[in-house]
Amino acid sequence: MSEAKKTVFIKTYGCQMNVYDSTRMADVLARENYRPVGSPETADLVVLNTCHIREKAAEKVYSEVGRLKPLKERARQAGRTMQIAVAGCVAQAEGEEIVARAPIVDAVIGPQSYHRLPAVLARAAQGGPAIETDFPDEDKFDHLPRIGGAAIAPAGAGGPVSAFLTVQEGCDKFCSFCVVPYTRGAEASRPVAQIVSEAERHVARGAREIMLLGQNVNAYHGAGPDGEDWSLARLLARLSEISGLERLRYTTSHPLDMSGELIAAHRDLGKLMPYLHLPAQSGSDRILAAMKRRHSADDYRRLVEKLRKARPDLALSGDFIVGFPGESDSDFEETMRLVADVGYAQAYSFKYSPRPGTPAADAADQVAGPVKAARLHELQALLHSQQTAFNAAMQGRTVDVLVEKPGRKPGQLVGRSPWLQAVQLDAPADIVGTIQPVRIEAIGANSLFGSLARPAAAGRAPARRPDSIGAIA
Ligand code: 5AD
Ligand code: SF4
Repeated sequence: MSEAKKTVFIKTYGCQMNVYDSTRMADVLARENYRPVGSPETADLVVLNTCHIREKAAEKVYSEVGRLKPLKERARQAGRTMQIAVAGCVAQAEGEEIVARAPIVDAVIGPQSYHRLPAVLARAAQGGPAIETDFPDEDKFDHLPRIGGAAIAPAGAGGPVSAFLTVQEGCDKFCSFCVVPYTRGAEASRPVAQIVSEAERHVARGAREIMLLGQNVNAYHGAGPDGEDWSLARLLARLSEISGLERLRYTTSHPLDMSGELIAAHRDLGKLMPYLHLPAQSGSDRILAAMKRRHSADDYRRLVEKLRKARPDLALSGDFIVGFPGESDSDFEETMRLVADVGYAQAYSFKYSPRPGTPAADAADQVAGPVKAARLHELQALLHSQQTAFNAAMQGRTVDVLVEKPGRKPGQLVGRSPWLQAVQLDAPADIVGTIQPVRIEAIGANSLFGSLARPAAAGRAPARRPDSIGAIA
């Protein structure tokens, strides 16, 4: 460990798990005396935490590395060293190819090896690039530093009010379009005790909400303290017992793993927020089969019905792919019909992009670019109108907002509704970390605007089960 503090700039692409991973890399590097900085100019180390899920991911990484070249050269001229590390799913997928194409990269490290980052950087410093993309035998979570903290601290004491916590990684579903089973590997769940203690430490650092993360999070089956494998529902029930923790969420789920027990958890656990990201990908049974999703559009409709019966105010989010190989106009119309039937509060939609190494990439009947673009436009117009209607229905209502942090303007705070909508309000800063009833007065493009429904009482507001908003048509 060197005496002087070194600096690291970490740039994160892609999903929330990458955001979580970046914080864990920062934790590992903090042990090595690295301090995070907000820009790469003077950093001793730049980490690009990359995403490979959709189009041009690798190209983006190469152009980002290109932009770092003059900075690295300037550092060299000033007698400093700037190391460049490529992490994440592009690192895993491309491996040595990265240093072959971009020799200024010092280290390439896959998501399962982040606990080894200091050793990899040391190896790179001794000459030549260091590449670590094997799936190691040991579990990285046993080797990453613990998130710090002791007793429950004031909200925001050193950590975020809403924290990410990875509970499982990898995926065994092998949907025919998806790289995740290759870049993140086989499904693996963390033990319950490890998750509970990490959650407790987050609460000790001021977290009031925890978002459980996993590529296929509802396939969670971690070892419980009783020696049995615990389901996600059981884990959520256990986490609900943590005092000071007010809200739980999880993402991303596969419809096939939405068990009766997990549906019941949405009915029974007051801390589990009424918002679920449940990708459907397509509304056509033919395309769903080709995607290897292993459920039909009606299975998905029935599942949504059960969920809404369990939790009438549940808001749904989803993912859709248009232009999957072989998708006809009528297949696409089936997707539009599913979206119209379900009614989403928010959803992501993408043009299919062939991922090298996945079965669908080799399919002969690829859909033409302009057709994909037109379908995406049409689908996004419908999803956008549903989102607008969902948000507009909040006008004049009083909703519970977990106040997370100061907003952009002085005196302004931002938080989230139970349905994950961003809410802006003018209120004293000491209510950060509390749940407050907020009257929604205006609806913006990306957030709701409101004011405290009653004068703020600093400190922890009691967690209330939010009142029902009813499903949208
Ligand atoms: N092309 C387009 N979208 C994709 N996704 C995953 N793989 C692809 C691909 N090859 C989308 C899916 C997934 C989300 C994270 O990204 O909708 O749910
Ligand atoms: Fe990819 Fe999700 Fe399918 Fe797994 S379930 S292969 S992560 S789309």
